[in-house]
Amino acid sequence: MTVWRMVFQGFDPDDEGRREALCTLGNGYFATRGAAPESVADGVHYPGTYVAGCFNRLTTDLAGHRLEDESIVNAPNWLPVTFRIDHDPWFTLERAEIVEAEQELDLQRGILIRRLRFRDHRRRTTRLVQHRLVHLAHPHLAGLHTTLQPEDWSGTVTVRSGLDGTVANSGVARYRDLAAHHLIDHHITEASPELAVLDALTSQSHVRLALAQRNRLLADDSLQPTRVTDLGEGRVDHEFAAEATPDMQIQLEKVVSLHTSRDPASTEPVSEAIDSARDAPGFDELCRTQAIAWSRLHHQFSTTTSLSEPARRTLLLHRFHLLQTASPTITDLDVGLPARGLHGEAYRGHVFWDELFVLPVLDLRLPRLSRALLRYRYRRLPRARRAARQAGLTGAMFPWQSGSNGREESPSWHLNPRSGHWLPDHTHLQRHVGLAIAHSARHHHLATGDDDYLSSEGAELICEIARFFSALATYDRSRDRYVIRGVVGPDEYHTAYPGNDEPGINNNAYTNIMAAWLCATATQVLRELPDQRRRELIDQIDLRRHEMDRWDRLAHRMFVPFHDQGLLSQFEGYHRLAELDWDAYRRRYGDIQRLDRILEAEGDDPNRYQVSKQADVLMLFYLLSAEELEELLGRLGYPMVDIPGNVEHYLARTSHGSTLSAVVHAWVLARGDRPRALEFFDKALFSDLHDTQHGTMAEGIHLAAMTGTLDLVQRCFTGIEIRPDGLHLNPQWPTDLGPLELTVRYHGLPLTIRVTGRAVAVRTAPGPPAPTITCVCGPQRTHLRPGETARFSMDATPATDSAGEPL
Ligand code: BGC
Repeated sequence: MTVWRMVFQGFDPDDEGRREALCTLGNGYFATRGAAPESVADGVHYPGTYVAGCFNRLTTDLAGHRLEDESIVNAPNWLPVTFRIDHDPWFTLERAEIVEAEQELDLQRGILIRRLRFRDHRRRTTRLVQHRLVHLAHPHLAGLHTTLQPEDWSGTVTVRSGLDGTVANSGVARYRDLAAHHLIDHHITEASPELAVLDALTSQSHVRLALAQRNRLLADDSLQPTRVTDLGEGRVDHEFAAEATPDMQIQLEKVVSLHTSRDPASTEPVSEAIDSARDAPGFDELCRTQAIAWSRLHHQFSTTTSLSEPARRTLLLHRFHLLQTASPTITDLDVGLPARGLHGEAYRGHVFWDELFVLPVLDLRLPRLSRALLRYRYRRLPRARRAARQAGLTGAMFPWQSGSNGREESPSWHLNPRSGHWLPDHTHLQRHVGLAIAHSARHHHLATGDDDYLSSEGAELICEIARFFSALATYDRSRDRYVIRGVVGPDEYHTAYPGNDEPGINNNAYTNIMAAWLCATATQVLRELPDQRRRELIDQIDLRRHEMDRWDRLAHRMFVPFHDQGLLSQFEGYHRLAELDWDAYRRRYGDIQRLDRILEAEGDDPNRYQVSKQADVLMLFYLLSAEELEELLGRLGYPMVDIPGNVEHYLARTSHGSTLSAVVHAWVLARGDRPRALEFFDKALFSDLHDTQHGTMAEGIHLAAMTGTLDLVQRCFTGIEIRPDGLHLNPQWPTDLGPLELTVRYHGLPLTIRVTGRAVAVRTAPGPPAPTITCVCGPQRTHLRPGETARFSMDATPATDSAGEPL
């Protein structure tokens, strides 16, 4: 088996949700779960299709509260294909005796293949092979090719292929008390005997979605489909009848197009869908061009390692899902990065701070994609300004959960499935999301050297977020320092002090230190702008001298909580909370990743304990190098922290209730404790594939954790760090894992980096004269011109700088 094939054997109803999410096919514009084409949402199967950025709001009256939720809409299902023999019931997996079942995800070409051999209740054996794609280069097109082969019977086969608009958002059990029917006003249009269109409207956002299907039965050209409308409103089917004999192959080619009223370059979606489906090439041609489009994209992301085959395959799987969610198509769209991909309905398709774990990866490979995702934020800057104003502050307050227009979409209540209780949700107080956006904007500029980005959008975004944090911080006279009160840090287990009705905690170390970082960065970014543009921006956003002076004071006088020498307090008072008896909880419950739910179900409260859901303080070591942190703390007048001491302290108090946690822990351990770093790397690598969060995979992938594993290889183990003075390298790749080679883009130039243990070679691509690239490795600094190679070793001094040699 090649590393490019992900194969799932058999059919296990309990595991079908995970498999569907992992076998999702998408192209950035839309994605469809890997559900069986004949299935309906029934608790085992969930054939969801999601169009990026297509949201709708519904209200629900729940326990005396009126809740308004915005969700990514489950679009009409384009998959339905089933058949029956004579007048027997229609085929479903549950009705058949399965002899062989295999599903193969071809990661190289972006094709999902299903092979099935089954027997029906009359002991007739049939083979079914289906190939499916969602086209990467033609973002409105998808296809499903079905081959049906009787082994030992003859009879009349009726094949039915349809579009089903009677779907709802019912993919997440926890949301089942909430309103779920987003689609109204269904219409069916018959454009030609083989081409039918279903369109529907989202009830509140008024996005019209149109899907057209073109069905052809390839066994017999003379067969024309019969349109069937007797299955109820909101659904259209084509049926074909053919006489089948043993070993004959009956082939149905279904080509589907999907358009919406949000599309650029479009009149209205029904006629666009008709045109696309009618003009689409046949399925074989779609497969051919799909393979070409994927090959191009894979090439831009290639990484060579000698990791084990399962590890390499899983990294390819992660890359595949990243690029299906953030494909080149998104550069034309107004979409953000949904935390759970376009793979399911968890978190309602919302956009969180998770892009912090994704954009740096794209910055070094496909920077136009990270720029497009940053533009999602930039477009919502006016809304973030309004939110800050409404909170009595200035600048831009970005929402913790974002959807269509950038309004705060965090739910005000959430269900603890363990206790069945609906609980007030204060996680929207995670103001640090703005810090993540500013950090991503800064990284994008440093990695790409794209001054146009900084001038046109980046600097404004960074300054407005800095302005917000500056307004959020208040001066504490007794300390002569600035403090930030009433927030929630990355660890969502702490949303209030025990027994306190007022939500929020004070002086989250991560938030405060990153706010100081941001104030210094905003000042620096303004300095980097050309004079004329700086003056314009200052005028444009009406930035006053006293505001910039305050940034400077915050960069020097922000309060940082410590509770011991060198040991940061996650927030003020954290160390006075009770210690949890971790062993007792592990013994009692086994899996304690979601300690918050366990404690609440026991009538207790995670706010009472020194327990963290995920890395919080340690995020600082994830985002900042030791040198940067030392400089930052030094400027604030604090001594450098003890990094290994903090890692040990918080690691012992973290339940890893978020998949992000393993990525960050692998990262922060990579320098000091490589074996443990590799354990966390493995955990992060297999958390979605093996659904180690027990059931959450069925609801969508964890895109940031998946991408985080790519970044562990790309930036952490290579020790790539982008700083204002150049590309820093500090390789940490275990020698016994063989060489690691990847080609990144830095300041617009391809750089091939080859790491072996603690040695690294960097080669620039040959080409016309270009600005030199500065590479820094420890005390060694080299300026590379096109076609040159530099070699560094962290173990050996002096540097073996051999510019000009082949790699
Ligand atoms: C984590 C957040 C994350 C969100 C979406 C939550 O479980 O605590 O940090 O942003 O999932 O992935």
